[in-house]
Amino acid sequence: MEIDPRTLPAAAVYRLLIGCVVPRPIAWVSSVAPDGVRNLAPFSYFMAITDDPPTIAFSSAPRTGTPGSPRPRKDTARNVEATGAFVVNVVDDGRAEAMNLTSGDYAPDVDEFALAGLTAAPGVKVAVPRVAEAPISLECRLAQIIPVGNAPHSLVLGEIVYFHVRDDVYDAATGRIDVHRLHPVGRLAGNLYARVHDIFEMKRPAADYRG
Ligand SMILES: Cc1cc2nc3c(=O)[nH]c(=O)nc-3n(C[C@H](O)[C@H](O)[C@H](O)COP(=O)(O)O)c2cc1C
Repeated sequence: MEIDPRTLPAAAVYRLLIGCVVPRPIAWVSSVAPDGVRNLAPFSYFMAITDDPPTIAFSSAPRTGTPGSPRPRKDTARNVEATGAFVVNVVDDGRAEAMNLTSGDYAPDVDEFALAGLTAAPGVKVAVPRVAEAPISLECRLAQIIPVGNAPHSLVLGEIVYFHVRDDVYDAATGRIDVHRLHPVGRLAGNLYARVHDIFEMKRPAADYRG
């Protein structure tokens, strides 16, 4: 199959693209509105982009909105811009259903922590709660919001200013996350997800390797 994306409507390009870039990690982003309402929503247009300083990026599309009017931004993008802070929580096997519950197109006054029965623990460096049940939470200060594409999406860049890592998924001897214990969930296309239960190792080739 040969596909020129310029010949497809945007919704078809979306369906195609999200099946090509798989599995995607999920940023489960907590934020707070200026009036104090807590917000939580998943974003799988998500990646780490540099470690010095530790920085992640996620992209928030505008809401579908009503035809003919400008598409409003999602609560997360508005909150992050207004407050300059957010938390990325990692979704593990036991948190998949709660994550999914927080993805509804809810009104801004809905607190998704309460809706999904999650515990909000206070941030240390930012005034944004994290999901206490998550194995890892990354407190972030907003670095930049870049409008991307025609919609446009808000590409949010955040510097991680504090790591919360549950003791059992942290290997203190190496300073690494124990991915065998983390059990993260990844997003595939549509409503499909992947569990990370089949992990293998490969050593990198030496610089003088020639086959
Ligand atoms: C697993 C998953 C991943 C998602 N990834 C994105 C994404 O990368 N960008 C986006 O705009 N919406 C994404 N969504 C949809 C948002 O979570 C959804 O629009 C949510 O209502 C946004 O909430 P907010 O308005 O509180 O920010 C995703 C939904 C799910 C279930």
